[in-house]
Amino acid sequence: MIKAYQSRCQERVDSALESLFQPPRAELERLYQAMRYSVMNGGKRVRPLLVYAACEALQGEIERADGAACAVELIHAYSLVHDDLPAMDDDDLRRGQPTTHKAFDEATAILAGDGLQSLAFEVLADRRRNPQNAEVRLQMLSTLGNAAGPAGMVGGQAIDLGSVGQKLDRAALETMHRHKTGALIEASVLLGALASGQADDLSLKALQQYSRAIGLAFQVQDDILDVESDTATLGKTQGKDEAHDKPTYPALLGLDAAKDYALELRDQALHALRLFGDSAEPLRELARYIVERRN
Ligand code: IPE
Ligand code: IPE
Ligand code: MG
Ligand code: MG
Ligand code: MG
Repeated sequence: MIKAYQSRCQERVDSALESLFQPPRAELERLYQAMRYSVMNGGKRVRPLLVYAACEALQGEIERADGAACAVELIHAYSLVHDDLPAMDDDDLRRGQPTTHKAFDEATAILAGDGLQSLAFEVLADRRRNPQNAEVRLQMLSTLGNAAGPAGMVGGQAIDLGSVGQKLDRAALETMHRHKTGALIEASVLLGALASGQADDLSLKALQQYSRAIGLAFQVQDDILDVESDTATLGKTQGKDEAHDKPTYPALLGLDAAKDYALELRDQALHALRLFGDSAEPLRELARYIVERRN
């Protein structure tokens, strides 16, 4: 089920994303090329999938979620472009291809990331691409801004870079992961719920619990795969966390305990959805996928 669902949603979001990379003037062709290169390169699209699945869980029309699905993937793609820069994780390979600063140059990669970030907010603010009433659009903008910014993902990246070579305790590691990766995943679920136009307090609370669990599980699994997968499967260089002395769950707990923890978080996520019926099946499948994935 997840495979078919995944390809259906991937096609949807890919065609919406593709329409964003037309340079408005000839001088900007290279910048737009770099932005397009950073997005249209075979990502798993987990965050857009979560947007669509949360919208469907609340019986919303999937068309209403296209803008939010694009916005979260644009933020994510920007975060990867910057994460891979020499000043950060210094990676050459992303999604099986040279990283943006390798395929273009560092300055272009910085600007492409900046451009993708701005574009995300432009898309959410646009009534045609994100057809909600003005109040909901504003709520969506603030949700994404908060998740992507210094109180969320950017803050997590700052903690990550400040923690190289340090021994973080479990609480500090969890804080870092919840910020750098969890925040955008939580926002993806919330944006999908808002896009449905049917979010009530009780379901929002359940979805928030679900998203907190999978947000952390996602980065725990990312840490696990960095240890036990291989570069070809990952599409990014395996073993970089250990080489850079990054604090990770496998480093702190050991590989087996990290895997147990990922499964425990999956179970917490599934439990949070107990009041939902079949409409939440895509969300349940995604929780399983996040800890079973191999890349
Ligand atoms: C990788 O994210 C970076 C993290 C936040 C862990 P994904 O594993 O979702 O990467 P893509 O989008 O599929 O390339
Ligand atoms: C990335 O964490 C988090 C963000 C990009 C916000 P990682 O540095 O672990 O991601 P990968 O492993 O390079 O994809
Ligand atoms: Mg990093
Ligand atoms: Mg990295
Ligand atoms: Mg990683």
